[in-house]
Amino acid sequence: MAVHVDSSGRHFQLDAGDSSYVLEATEEGALAHWYWGPKLRSSSPVHRRELLVPRAFAPRPFPEHEEFSYDVLPQEYPTWGRGDFRSPAYQVRLDDGSAVTDLRFQAYRHVPGKPRLAGLPHIYVDDPQSAETLIVVLYDAVADLKVELVYTALADLNAIVRSAKFYNQSPRPLVLERALSASVDLPEAGWDWIRLVGAWGRERKIERTVLGLGMGSVESRRGASSHQANPFLALADSATGERSGRVWAMQLIYSGNFRAQAEVDGFENTRMAIGIDPFQFQWTLAPHETFQTPEAVLVFSHQGLGTMSETFHDLYRQHLMREPWRSQERPIVLNSWEATAFDFDEKKLVELADVAQSLGVETLVLDDGWFGQRHDARSSLGDWVPNHQKLPQGLIGLAKKVHDRGLQFGLWVEPEMVSPASDLYRAHPDWCLHVPHRPRTEGRHQLVLDLSRDDVVAWIIGWMTDLLTTTPIDYIKWDMNRNMTEVGSPQWPADRQAEISHRYILGLYHVLETLTARFPQVLFEGCSGGGGRFDPGMLYYMPETWTSDDSDAIDRLVTQYGTSLVYPPIAMTAHVSQVPSQQVGRITPLTTRAWVAMSATFGYELDVTRLSAEEREAIGRQITVYKALRPLVQFGRFYRLLDPAQGNEASWMFVSGDGTEGLVVWVNRLAEPAAPVRWLHLTGLRADRDYDLSEWTEEGSWQFRGRYGGDRLINIGIATRAVSDFGVRAWRLQA
Ligand code: DGJ
Repeated sequence: MAVHVDSSGRHFQLDAGDSSYVLEATEEGALAHWYWGPKLRSSSPVHRRELLVPRAFAPRPFPEHEEFSYDVLPQEYPTWGRGDFRSPAYQVRLDDGSAVTDLRFQAYRHVPGKPRLAGLPHIYVDDPQSAETLIVVLYDAVADLKVELVYTALADLNAIVRSAKFYNQSPRPLVLERALSASVDLPEAGWDWIRLVGAWGRERKIERTVLGLGMGSVESRRGASSHQANPFLALADSATGERSGRVWAMQLIYSGNFRAQAEVDGFENTRMAIGIDPFQFQWTLAPHETFQTPEAVLVFSHQGLGTMSETFHDLYRQHLMREPWRSQERPIVLNSWEATAFDFDEKKLVELADVAQSLGVETLVLDDGWFGQRHDARSSLGDWVPNHQKLPQGLIGLAKKVHDRGLQFGLWVEPEMVSPASDLYRAHPDWCLHVPHRPRTEGRHQLVLDLSRDDVVAWIIGWMTDLLTTTPIDYIKWDMNRNMTEVGSPQWPADRQAEISHRYILGLYHVLETLTARFPQVLFEGCSGGGGRFDPGMLYYMPETWTSDDSDAIDRLVTQYGTSLVYPPIAMTAHVSQVPSQQVGRITPLTTRAWVAMSATFGYELDVTRLSAEEREAIGRQITVYKALRPLVQFGRFYRLLDPAQGNEASWMFVSGDGTEGLVVWVNRLAEPAAPVRWLHLTGLRADRDYDLSEWTEEGSWQFRGRYGGDRLINIGIATRAVSDFGVRAWRLQA
């Protein structure tokens, strides 16, 4: 059983995988957090009232309980105004102007399985036996506010999913000024805190530093989860590495503004929390209205970051991505963007399709530039009508030609945007986010459509439905190329303007839910100038994301390595692009580019009609080998071996679920004089099995290198050396 409730009905232990999480309604009615860590027996309930040490200046809300203060109590959903001076999980303003609330335990329920969330992406379970859900009901009598905290414990994974739902039961409006999804107080400090940060072109680099006293946070105010930060935060012991040590992690299933924070107080307690960014957020709850927060995923590992990642990967592959794509192999794509940019016509695309087909590519994706007068980024977003100079037979004619060649047809769209130079904007200048009397700030010459408006949402659903109904499209690349400014919507009243960012995301989710339900066979790839919206919210609808606009193989080492901290390789699209790299001018060998891209959901992004005969042959062999390895890469377990951000080399490996097959990839940046021998200590293999080890050769075939025990490969490893610039080696293991 995943949820244990003691006889008092006030003490709850959630068991998720081999972890436990304990909370209790104290005699004062507060909801205390007592424990999150390795699994405990549920027979002796945990309490930690020892933490209630009388402290100078700590307010005492219950005179009869001298030792009790909210300022020292570890809490589940901390309140504001009754003596806890740390950062609260929620804040509500009443119509008398006050913002003091005091949620007390009222009741609980527990149910098998996991309830679905309407209107928001969420974790789901197919089998109600695989999870159990606890709902704790809290109530503030003065505000007449009910809050339900919903916790789902997964039976086989160290993962707990949390959210909060607010009910205004009063006849007056209540204003939510903050509504985080999860908050946990850990009675320790001295952590390393780990986050995924970066910028366009170098998203999700792992940043790990010591968390001192005070507040540490990562957040996005950009209207999207962003290139700069990912809705993720982990706390780890300083000794925690890939294979050992404790780590507590939180991620938000959300694609808009977020905050993930950790606050260390003077008594060495740490409050970890995640949710919608309270900055510029406000939500009016009219009488009897409700507000549902996004879900947060909480993962604990006491076997290092590797096991934490495995838990996230399993959770997202099995309980976030949806059928049919959850269990379907992803096609090898040729994307036209880095091949042609805006400069193409049907003839060129058909030539690309011809060569792609001969190489074994499975899908041709036509990127930006197919509609309106789109010859550069200055116009036409919103005018989703094929450009007949480029495509005389329209999209239908092109799709037919692509299909006739045995390829699937994919198309780029950017539905959330409008160019000021477009018929759409001329007809509906009020359809973009804007603030009256202020200039509309453009980014990439475009404005953001106002998805808080029902008519705009209906328009997007309408034209996308027409497109996908009339044109045989198998794959959509959904792009989003700017962040939001002048976030306002004059359609909504003044006191609702701080709701627009969240309403935008709800509108977007509604569009995506409708389209993916209507067209389940269409594979959606998310993109936001690369990985500017690579988050679990988007993965619920779009089971893969263009990882970064920087497709250079050496830069991608750090990006893909960091991304793997929480996202499985199947979620990352990675393409072999041309050299010199369009982003950084670097020239890397084709094999190196291929093995980096083949370690994710694979494809090409170059003009295949201009390849030499040798390059064509090499690419043909790469595609054959990827097809053979695809189940392992897309559905196997992924392990990080060497971190490219820490040195000259990177290495990672995949192992099949039954441990009988493996793939190891190693890349170095620069050759080193007198290069030391590096031993790659493999992992995930079966120590009791023998493996045939083959290495990928320059000629593009596997060469047998010997038979080795799993124990030897784990404890001694494979030897390699950095002897050439941008070198790569790949080994295959078969038990
Ligand atoms: C940004 C994307 O990340 C690129 O891959 C490409 O689709 C361009 N947009 C097209 O404008």
